[in-house]
Amino acid sequence: MQYIYKKLLDISEEKAKELGITSEDLALYFPDHLMIDVEFKSGYLKFKLLEFVLFLLAMGVKTFLLPRKDQPGSLDIEEVERVYTREALGYDRKHHFTTRGQDTIWRRKAGEAVAAYCQKNQPNEITVLDLCTGTGLTLLEICKILASRNITKRLNVCLTGLDYNRSMLGVAEKRPYLFANILTDFVKGNAMDLYSPDGKSADGENSRFKAESFDVVTQMCGIGGINDPKSVFEGVLKVLKPGGHFFLADMHRPIPNLIGELPIINKWVEMPLFEVFIYEKGTIPIVLNQLWGWRDTTLDFYILPLVSWQDGNQFWGFKILSFEEESLRWWLSMTLMPYAKLIVEKTEITKEEHDKRQKILSLLGK
Ligand SMILES: C[S@@+](CC[C@H](N)C(=O)[O-])C[C@H]1O[C@@H](n2cnc3c(N)ncnc32)[C@H](O)[C@@H]1O
Repeated sequence: MQYIYKKLLDISEEKAKELGITSEDLALYFPDHLMIDVEFKSGYLKFKLLEFVLFLLAMGVKTFLLPRKDQPGSLDIEEVERVYTREALGYDRKHHFTTRGQDTIWRRKAGEAVAAYCQKNQPNEITVLDLCTGTGLTLLEICKILASRNITKRLNVCLTGLDYNRSMLGVAEKRPYLFANILTDFVKGNAMDLYSPDGKSADGENSRFKAESFDVVTQMCGIGGINDPKSVFEGVLKVLKPGGHFFLADMHRPIPNLIGELPIINKWVEMPLFEVFIYEKGTIPIVLNQLWGWRDTTLDFYILPLVSWQDGNQFWGFKILSFEEESLRWWLSMTLMPYAKLIVEKTEITKEEHDKRQKILSLLGK
């Protein structure tokens, strides 16, 4: 039997040529695994076994995590809002459960990123915006890391958590953040509409910010519920100070030649078909779409470094500081939790680079 793991990007060579974009330009931004189909061949019994694992996964989610009953729609802001209003009180427990507790480690990495920024830039004060902050778990871990590094003894820390959902914010506001020299503030806002030149809210309800308001922006498991990720990245580019850092972490589909190893009896084996099949047929529809109102976020990691902004006669874009994709172990040590983390820095770019990035984005229909 055959299973095709379809490419995510289908860029027309002809159109690229017309725009003067070479294959070398594209290779800088898009790795091969996004651009080619991968074909898997396997026996009938193996497929049946995969379908059985899928069935167990679906039953497990249904029984223990009680997802919403309605079928996923277009995952627009109203639908995502309904999911998180329903999930707010049980969010922490469910999120720890679906990630086998790894989510706390991921959130600490956001804290590490803020600490690294402080060490590199030695500011007197640091301002951090956590997008799609939910119940505030990421800000809590950022506080712990900054306190454990004694950073809070050296500088004032202002943390803002932004979310669209009042029920999630309600839980965040009740959490005690008892750290000296750390100010936390939670605001209602739309991550797709972060910036306004005067920092004023358009409707008196959703917060917006002036250009260059923050040193670091973090977004942990926050981009998958957003139907226009590019608008989020453009807003982040505007509200970050020059040299500011953006930390983005979420799921990333398995990369067929970078598969995790699984212990079976006394051997470590790679099972690429197992990983890609369960991710496409199980993780995306059952866990991401149904339970969390989420999409596959893989392409967002490749769109972010292409976003740029013209401010007067200056051009701004992002420089990649680090990118990691890992096939992490889920329950029973199964390699079913592919996750990625990207850290970029706001940097001045040339007009030529800005034009090139805009053209590449247009090839993606963005
Ligand atoms: C999976 S939770 C993540 C929460 C938190 N970052 C964490 O690490 O636990 C996703 C959050 O994104 C929020 N969200 C979704 N779309 C949003 C938008 N357009 N603007 C602001 N928040 C949004 C949801 O309300 C929800 O609280």
